[in-house]
Amino acid sequence: MENLEILKFFANYIQSELGIVYVEANYFQLEHRLKDISVQLGYQDIVGLYQTARNGIFGQMKSLLLDLATNNETSFFRDQSIFKALSESMIPDIIKGGKKPSIQIWSAASSSGQEVYSIAMEIDQAKQLNSDIPYFRIFASDVSETILKRAEAGIYSQLEVQRGLPTKLMLHYFDKNEEDKWVVKPFIKSGITFQKLNLLHNWGSIGPFDIIFCRNVLIYQSVENKIKIIQELLKQLNPGGYLVLGAAESLFGLSQDFEQIVHGTAVFFRKK
Ligand SMILES: C[S@@+](CC[C@H](N)C(=O)[O-])C[C@H]1O[C@@H](n2cnc3c(N)ncnc32)[C@H](O)[C@@H]1O
Repeated sequence: MENLEILKFFANYIQSELGIVYVEANYFQLEHRLKDISVQLGYQDIVGLYQTARNGIFGQMKSLLLDLATNNETSFFRDQSIFKALSESMIPDIIKGGKKPSIQIWSAASSSGQEVYSIAMEIDQAKQLNSDIPYFRIFASDVSETILKRAEAGIYSQLEVQRGLPTKLMLHYFDKNEEDKWVVKPFIKSGITFQKLNLLHNWGSIGPFDIIFCRNVLIYQSVENKIKIIQELLKQLNPGGYLVLGAAESLFGLSQDFEQIVHGTAVFFRKK
């Protein structure tokens, strides 16, 4: 069998699972990564990998194929102004009616966890100043099992903490381990639940949430997939709940169910 047909097979699989399209011009990249996976799984070459894969893709092979195509770039307090908007605008608005026992937040493509812990630290800091802010729970999900395990472990290198984490917060919320890595303290982790979830598949009942962070993941999707995912996110939001997208993302042409809110330089969306 020609390698081209094998590459098409895997490109189609990745597209159906993740919505991420490998055009033929990038097949050399796909082939290179499939060769690595073949070696990791003990096959001689990608033909061996394909012969097993065509009978069904499960377990470690599935996990490696999904990891191959996803970009996990993230950092602490990425696009900092949105975290100020969270504590200064979104949360005060959500609790303004009073009597809210808890705030529910979802980080829908949490990658290695920097986003989730940044949310938790921002709210914990805000709670020091405003005792009306109730208990909060964060649901963190990602399609990649590998990256989700990293998020749950909450262990970061010096280089990773230097990307966006202020020293004051690092010393307050992290401990240093024997390997000179920074480990998130249990108290800040305790309100966070981690779960594997593909935004393109049916999620079942996971909400409702007051705020959903879905940042820097829709960018890789077709317009149809973006619309579908946004409709599903909408259903998971409480009335008046907030949707936060990446700094370069917008709802333009995708949904009219939200009003755009601006706070400082941050832009986010409120369910109408
Ligand atoms: C570029 S990272 C963004 C991380 C974080 N939200 C941020 O903005 O810093 C994109 C993440 O989306 C995840 N992802 C890609 N496709 C997905 C899908 N269909 N469902 C859920 N997560 C997905 C990837 O595994 C990756 O961790």
